[in-house]
Amino acid sequence: MKVTVVGAGAVGASCAEYIAIKDFADEIVIVDIKEGFAEGKAMDLMQTASLNGFDSTITGTTNDYSKTAGSDVAVITSGIPRKPGMTREELIGINAGIVKTVSENLIKYSPNVILIVVSNPMDTMAYLAHKATGLPKNRIIGMGGALDSARFKYRLAEALDCPQSDISAMVIGGHSDTGMVPLIEKAVRNSVPVSEFLSAEKMAEVVEATKVGGATLTKLLGTSAWYAPGAAVSELVRAIALDSKKMFPCSALLEGEYGLSDISLGVPCVLGKNGIEKIVEIELSAAEKAKMMESAEGVKAVNALL
Ligand code: 2OP
Repeated sequence: MKVTVVGAGAVGASCAEYIAIKDFADEIVIVDIKEGFAEGKAMDLMQTASLNGFDSTITGTTNDYSKTAGSDVAVITSGIPRKPGMTREELIGINAGIVKTVSENLIKYSPNVILIVVSNPMDTMAYLAHKATGLPKNRIIGMGGALDSARFKYRLAEALDCPQSDISAMVIGGHSDTGMVPLIEKAVRNSVPVSEFLSAEKMAEVVEATKVGGATLTKLLGTSAWYAPGAAVSELVRAIALDSKKMFPCSALLEGEYGLSDISLGVPCVLGKNGIEKIVEIELSAAEKAKMMESAEGVKAVNALL
């Protein structure tokens, strides 16, 4: 499998590193516009191969998309990250142009590519990628829910004082501080609903902490997070590489699913060699449905700025 990662910044480099370490890709190409930056990151990562025990080859290129030719998957992390106090949505002015150009460059050399969009505001950038490329809807995946679900599990494990491996939980809806929908009613600790362990007040606290998980880190770090975003992307790419049929919440173009159309929004998706193999329409409670609709309204308002 050949994977391209566009953007050699912290998120892109973490994507490349985790993909390499998990060793399911033959080749990883990192692209950046800053002279020598992608080449340097690739070389530094390659010098970990004997230490981390992977055989994937990693190369870098300064904006030469011919080096990405024949990519099976391409991850778009390029654009500016947010600063403390900013919302993801405020990045649209700069990032929209970058994501459009990058998407067009990628499909020029890899017409069969599966795109994974990370750049923010992610749901709108994924929607833009659909408009810019015309790729089939199964081949554009927005990565947000996998990251938000990881943060949800982190907060639930913290509240339950248990290992994260004991938790199964999912976040759907928009990848935004106000719009995401942590499915707290469905979260379980080893098949037992978390409501049997946590008070309503504590569950509400966990939901709120999850929703601002990215902003919390941006305040601490002075920029967007990169380890968990990178790891989340690597799991989506691995599901495609292994044709695993695992289900992740991903931003997918909806055409009637969940009663929504003409929007990319976080919904449960089965991932495999074809990208999104299936959008899974799960039963939502009235409260969950209302939050999903509210989230969709928020994303559509940002889409209107394109
Ligand atoms: C985050 O939530 C970068 O949007 C990403 O950290």
